[in-house]
Amino acid sequence: MNRPLSQKITPQQLAAIDQDIKSATGMPNAAYTDPEFFVFERDHVLGSSWAALMFCVDYKEDNTVTPIEFMGLPLIVIKTKQGKNQPRNQHGNQPGNQPGSIKVFHNVCSHRGRKLVSEQKKTNGMMVCPYHCWTYDLNGKLCATPHIGGIGIHQAEGFHPQNNGLKEIRSHIWLGVLFINLSGDAPEFTDYARPMLERYHGLVGEHGFDQIEYADTHGQITFSINCNWKLAMENFCEAYHLPWIHPSLNAYSPLQKHHHLFISEDFAGQRSTSFDPSITGCESFPGFNHWPEDQAGCAEYPAFYPNLMFGFQENHLFILIVHPIDIDKTDEDARLIYVNHEAANGGKFESARIANHDAWKKVFSEDVTAVEGLQQGRRSSGYSGGVFSPVQDAPTLHFHQWIARKYRAGYKRQ
Ligand code: FES
Ligand SMILES: [Fe+2]
Repeated sequence: MNRPLSQKITPQQLAAIDQDIKSATGMPNAAYTDPEFFVFERDHVLGSSWAALMFCVDYKEDNTVTPIEFMGLPLIVIKTKQGKNQPRNQHGNQPGNQPGSIKVFHNVCSHRGRKLVSEQKKTNGMMVCPYHCWTYDLNGKLCATPHIGGIGIHQAEGFHPQNNGLKEIRSHIWLGVLFINLSGDAPEFTDYARPMLERYHGLVGEHGFDQIEYADTHGQITFSINCNWKLAMENFCEAYHLPWIHPSLNAYSPLQKHHHLFISEDFAGQRSTSFDPSITGCESFPGFNHWPEDQAGCAEYPAFYPNLMFGFQENHLFILIVHPIDIDKTDEDARLIYVNHEAANGGKFESARIANHDAWKKVFSEDVTAVEGLQQGRRSSGYSGGVFSPVQDAPTLHFHQWIARKYRAGYKRQ
């Protein structure tokens, strides 16, 4: 019989993570190697908070249904026509907007449980289950149940279609990212993200994000990495590895100019006071109008727990979604975003966009071998949790402590 998870990673081990950084240890190996914890984390770590699912910019067409897996769970993302209360631009970056144009459902028919949608397709407003033809509209409402009451009889006594629609998952769009809350009981997204919103409105101005645009070309960087998703996040939290893993980045944004960034109990990372990549021979990107003068050359890299990484520079952003695929497999999908349409897509800035894309691709790819090495180390019986540098690793410990809190709450819920 399987041991309960709380015997595999014990409350005592979780308590050891909550110690002062000089004596704390990290999450034990099982959190990175045991498939049971992958499912546990889906339901109780990512699932109980706001997990990033996808970039809305990939789903431009109305009435499109897209199957997508979230940590093994089949979901459908449905894009319908934009209504009055829809995002201000195609990236849905209006603060506080509700995701009326994009909805997420469990991808399973209410009848006998066939997976409903197997491939992305444009619809006529209906989704038909291939098994017995039960039909749903794009709001998940069950609209047709052919022959349910016998041949030619499409209703049945005691059967209520209104109680058998698709199960919707709570979702929210911010900065063009679609977030989901599987458990349905996380705080409102705007409350969760408020410390981030306030901090970055302080840098770009209250409306600074209204005109941002994802680059259509040279705007995406993807990787598949043989590591647990948490290692990708932990690596992003710290700058300690810069001199050895990113010597070229370290030349223009050196370790000694990096400082810890603690935004709230849910977001932490790094702040550089010297970001100057000097992309030469290219048109300089326009910057955010309201970026404060005393912040010139500063850049911030908060990890937005559980699975998002941000890079805020004065003339562009990157957003990177960490997709947990399996206990030891992770996909990363990064997008480059500029302050307006011309910077994002105009011909004048194309060579600068290429140079910027290549610079970030180099940095991100340098991390791949490092985090894969961390995953390999998690199979060692000579290691479990490790120790932290009291000076360099405080944001990494912050992330571990966040995970430990989620574990404790998850154990209680189980
Ligand atoms: S399983 Fe979908 S209609 Fe029967
Ligand atoms: Fe790195």
